Amino acid sequence: MTRSAAQDQDRWNEYWTRYAFEYDEHQLSRLAHADERATWSRIWADALPIGTRSVLDVGTGTGNVALQLAADGYEVTGIDLSEGMLERARAKCAGHPAPPTFLRGDAVQPPFPPGSFDAIVSRYVLWTLRDAASALQRWHELLRPGGTLVAVDGP
Ligand SMILES: C[S@@+](CC[C@H](N)C(=O)[O-])C[C@H]1O[C@@H](n2cnc3c(N)ncnc32)[C@H](O)[C@@H]1O
Repeated sequence: MTRSAAQDQDRWNEYWTRYAFEYDEHQLSRLAHADERATWSRIWADALPIGTRSVLDVGTGTGNVALQLAADGYEVTGIDLSEGMLERARAKCAGHPAPPTFLRGDAVQPPFPPGSFDAIVSRYVLWTLRDAASALQRWHELLRPGGTLVAVDGP
């Protein structure tokens, strides 16, 4: 990463950390509706083929997708570069029988060897990335043969 790209990324990480609380409160207020939680469970179950076990949630933010997938039985790793977002994600792991592993990691260059995951999920993340094309290429390499990428984003 060039120095100026790294500086831009640092600014974005600070931005997400500054708004972590508000962001999470908004997401949790939506998840408080049983319909919303059930709808997301159905979306992931429809998108992830039977037999999927290991899932990487890139740009996991405050971890709500990762936590829901873990509750649904997947082995989940969530990465993000915002310490504030990760702090809120980790705080929600207490009492979870098989919580996700939350790590600081760059979604554009995830710190894993090729073929590490059965599936990669990305929700509301592509639009935030400094280089979405490179990220998609790396995500493809991280998948095992026949693996699945699920990206959920607005236009
Ligand atoms: C709109 S939030 C989405 C959070 C979560 N996926 C969700 O569905 O609630 C975007 C997240 O992407 C993260 N992000 C942006 N660029 C990133 C990068 N290069 N590496 C890791 N995380 C990144 C931000 O820190 C933020 O937590």
